[in-house]
Amino acid sequence: MKKKTVKDVALKGKRVLLRADLNVPLSDGGVEDDTRIRESLPTIKYILDEGGRLIIMSHLGRPKGEVKPELSLAPVAERLGELLGQEVVMAPDCVGAEVKALVDQLTDGQAILLENTRFHAGESKNDPAFVAQLAELGDILVNDAFGTAHRAHASNVGLAEVLGGSVAGFLMEKEIEYLTRATESPKHPYVIVLGGAKVSTKIGVVDNLLKLADNILMGGLMANVYLSAAGHKVGKSKIEPDLLESARRGLSQDLDGKIKLPVDHIAAEELSADAKGEYFPQLDLPEEVMALDIGPRTVESYKSILADAQTIFWNGPLGVFEYESFSGGTRAIATAIAESSATTIAGGGETVAAINKFGLARNFDHISTGGGASLEFLEGKELPGITSISEKE
Ligand code: 3PG
Repeated sequence: MKKKTVKDVALKGKRVLLRADLNVPLSDGGVEDDTRIRESLPTIKYILDEGGRLIIMSHLGRPKGEVKPELSLAPVAERLGELLGQEVVMAPDCVGAEVKALVDQLTDGQAILLENTRFHAGESKNDPAFVAQLAELGDILVNDAFGTAHRAHASNVGLAEVLGGSVAGFLMEKEIEYLTRATESPKHPYVIVLGGAKVSTKIGVVDNLLKLADNILMGGLMANVYLSAAGHKVGKSKIEPDLLESARRGLSQDLDGKIKLPVDHIAAEELSADAKGEYFPQLDLPEEVMALDIGPRTVESYKSILADAQTIFWNGPLGVFEYESFSGGTRAIATAIAESSATTIAGGGETVAAINKFGLARNFDHISTGGGASLEFLEGKELPGITSISEKE
């Protein structure tokens, strides 16, 4: 790799700011899936073993510059402490005098986790005043947040500029190396499976993905937007109306019919753990129900496309897999991908959670911790979080 890594800098006695992506799913006040924490461990352990004074930064969710207690990183500090076998101090904020005092008390080999960087509006705006406050806390920036690499935010990009560059952590290095190898000249047929909730992140990349892939199989909220854009009735299914135009554009550019949409659905009047899914064998849904999973005919047609694939990239579950009644589609497609002889890559927090839930992780060639970041990487876009990492001399 052309980028400098954490192995290229002296860490002993240094205040090491580590930008990790610890944006993990939470439930009942605890960490629901700790994959991103575990994947960050090699870099964290290395910095501590080398005698660095570790100051970890991350965002969690999208609090949009407001303090939202339910998006505190406190449960992450606890889980990280358990995995490390040493205390990780939880800071009350990510900048300010109180935090600075806690950082000043760190001794070599100790760690502190700063509170959610997105509790400050300056993080997403890459505001120089906020960057300067973060910069007061450390001497070196290690960037291990591949999942955030498509964002030019204060804690990854702004801070690198002010601290004279940054170096990659081991997770960042692994992601760049693997995704480069797997996507530079993918074997065809190349099938992309797109689902999940963060539709705004994914819709913009579909135009580019159409140039790369032979098929794009859609499910989840993503599919509802495209079905609606194609003029179908999606009942009460959630769609963001301002995304319809982009979806229409994607469909109009898809002259070869690469985009595949569900032809049947499992739907219910409301989304809850005990809601019973009803099967709707048709494309259009009645007004009183919402689509919560793809139906069996869709599963079969997607499986037959996946069976011929040589490369598969999967981002986003195909239904609300967290609830048993709506997990069938995601489970069937995850299993088909896992059993395929193609090069298989999956990315995104929800996708990783689904793969772990179904116990299929070992069957994938690469599971990226990045959702939007891995999609933009495979599109060939420049990722500001990677560009900001210093090159080797
Ligand atoms: C992710 O989960 O994809 C990353 O943590 C980035 O989150 P974001 O889409 O809210 O910027």
